[in-house]
Amino acid sequence: MNAARSKLRTGLRCGAFLLFVFCVFPTVADTSRPALAAIASAHPLATQAGMEILADGGNAFDAAVAVSAALAVVEPYSSGIGGGGFWLLHRARDDFEVMVDGREKAPLAASRDMYLDADGEVVPDLSVDGALAAGIPGEPAALDHIARHYGRLPLARSLRPAIRLAREGFVVDAYYRKLAQFRLAVLQNNPEAAGIFLHDGEVPEEGYRIVQPDLADTLAAIARFGNAGFYRGPVARALVDGVRAGGGIWTMEDLAQYRVVEREPIQVAFQGLRITSASPPSSGGVALATMLNILSTFELTELDAATHAHVVIESMRRAYQDRSVYLGDPDFVAIPVPRLTSAGHAGRQARSIQLDRVTPSSTLPGRVLKTGGRDTTHFSILDGAGNRVAATLSVNYPFGACEVPPGTGVLLNDEMDDFSAKPGVPNVYGLVGAEANAIEPGKRPLSSMSPTFIESKDGVAVLGTPGGSRIITMVLLGILDQAAGNKPDSWVSLPRYHHQYLPDTVQHEPDAFDADMIKSLTLRGHTLKQLNAEYGNMQAIYWDRNTGQVFAASDPRGIGDSRVGLFRRR
Ligand code: DON
Repeated sequence: MNAARSKLRTGLRCGAFLLFVFCVFPTVADTSRPALAAIASAHPLATQAGMEILADGGNAFDAAVAVSAALAVVEPYSSGIGGGGFWLLHRARDDFEVMVDGREKAPLAASRDMYLDADGEVVPDLSVDGALAAGIPGEPAALDHIARHYGRLPLARSLRPAIRLAREGFVVDAYYRKLAQFRLAVLQNNPEAAGIFLHDGEVPEEGYRIVQPDLADTLAAIARFGNAGFYRGPVARALVDGVRAGGGIWTMEDLAQYRVVEREPIQVAFQGLRITSASPPSSGGVALATMLNILSTFELTELDAATHAHVVIESMRRAYQDRSVYLGDPDFVAIPVPRLTSAGHAGRQARSIQLDRVTPSSTLPGRVLKTGGRDTTHFSILDGAGNRVAATLSVNYPFGACEVPPGTGVLLNDEMDDFSAKPGVPNVYGLVGAEANAIEPGKRPLSSMSPTFIESKDGVAVLGTPGGSRIITMVLLGILDQAAGNKPDSWVSLPRYHHQYLPDTVQHEPDAFDADMIKSLTLRGHTLKQLNAEYGNMQAIYWDRNTGQVFAASDPRGIGDSRVGLFRRR
C-alpha cells in the first residue's frame, strides 16, 4: 500500500469529521444512543444514497436497502440484485440482533457433478463464467424483507436513489476499468453484458457514463411489487428465458421458491468485547469465534510482536482447518457450532500451539483453501437511534458470471463456484471443500463473508470487508486492533497477513512485516509469501459511548466513502 497516500486520505476524512463532531456534539454524551449517524460504503454514490434516505427520516435499515441497491448499480463488479449477501442487523429499541441470509441457492435442477465432464474432471470455468454458474439471487428478497420488517420508509422510497442512478448513469473510474479489464474476455462473450458494461466491446474510458435503463425498470418493478416484481411475472420470465438460452438451468419455480432466512448470528466474547458475526452458511462467525477463543488463552499484551503474529497465524491455521471440514449450509448439513465455538475446543487447539515453532498443516487433517480479491462489497451503517447494519454482499467473481439475461439489466452471479465442485479440486479462490459443501438442489454455497459488530461498555463497532477467504482474517485483525484501543482509520488501513491452513504459507501484503519480523517468523518455520498487491476493502464505524463521538473510515485501498452526520427524525 502507498502508506503516505493512505494516511493522507484517512487523515483528511477524520479531520473533516472531527471538526463536524466538535461543532454539533451535545455536551453530555448519551451512552444509549449515538445521536450522530454514519455510513461507510465502498462507493461514494452508495454512501450518498444512504445519507439521502437518513435525511428523509429513514432508519439504518432503510439506509441499508438504499445503499445495497445503489451498490448494485454503481459497483456491478462487486454485488447486485442478481447476487446475494448477509445483512447483520441490530435494532436499538430492544437490542434484537439477526442475520438476514439472502445468500444465493443452487437451482433445483443442480446436481453434485454438474461441473464435471464425462471423465469426472472439473470443466474449467463452467462454475465461474456464464449462466450455468449462477445461483438463484437472494438480494431482491432480502431488500424487500428488510424494508417490510425493519424499515420506516416504503421499499419504493429507499430504492429511489438506485433507480435514479441506473437511469441517469454513473461515471467510469480507474477502479471500474481495472476490474472490467480483468473480466474483459468473458464480458465480450455476452452481447447483453458487453452492451451495458463495455464501450464498443472494450473497457470504457474514464469518464464514460454507464447507463442501465433495463436495470432501472427491474428495480422499479421491485419497488412497485416487492418480491413479486423480481421472483414472479415478466421479470422472472425474462430472467429464466435468458438464463436457459445461456445454458443455465433456472426455472420459474426456482425463483418463486426463493426465501430469505433469518438466522441467529454467532457471538463470542473476547477481552471484554462482545463480537457478533455471520452464522452458517457463512464460515465467518464460527472461524472468528475459534480464532478469538484460541487467542483468549494467551496474554497477548505480554508477547513481543513476532510471537504475537505467530500465535495469531497459528489460530488462523486451526480455524481454517475446521472451516474446510465442518462448514456448509445449515439447512442441509449438521454443523457442530456449539462445539466448534466452545472454550474447550479452543483450549485443546491452543495447547497444540508452540511459541517457538510452527505446527505444519500437514500434521493436521483437512482440505485446501485459498485467496480472494477486491470484488464483493461491504458497508456499515449506524443511525442516530443506535440501530446498525453490517452487510457484505456479492456476485462472487468480478462482474459475477459476466452474463445479463436480455431485457432485465440483471448481472448474474457466479456464486455456484463457492460450492466444492469436486473434493480436492480448488475453486476460483483455491478453495477445496468437504462433503458439507457439496452441491445439492436448493442448497446455499459456503461463504466467508463476515459482517461484524463489536460491542463493549465503551463503544460499538460495525465492520466488514470483501476479499474471498481472506475476509475472515481481515476482520480478525480489525477486532484485535480495536481491542488494542485503535479506531476505524487504523482498522481499515492496517497491513494484512493471512493463513488458511492450506496452502501452508503466511500470505502478506507488501508492507505487512519488517525485516526483523520476517526473520523471526521464518526462524519459527513459517513460509512467508509476499503478495504483489494489497487486498480487501474494509468499511468501518465506531461509536464511542463515553464521548459520544462517531468515527467512520473507508479502506484506503478502495474508492469508498465514509461520512458522519446529524439527522433528526421527522
Ligand atoms: O461468499 C464468499 O465467500 C465469496 N463469494 C466472496 C467473494 C469475495 O469476497 C471476492 N472478493 N474479493
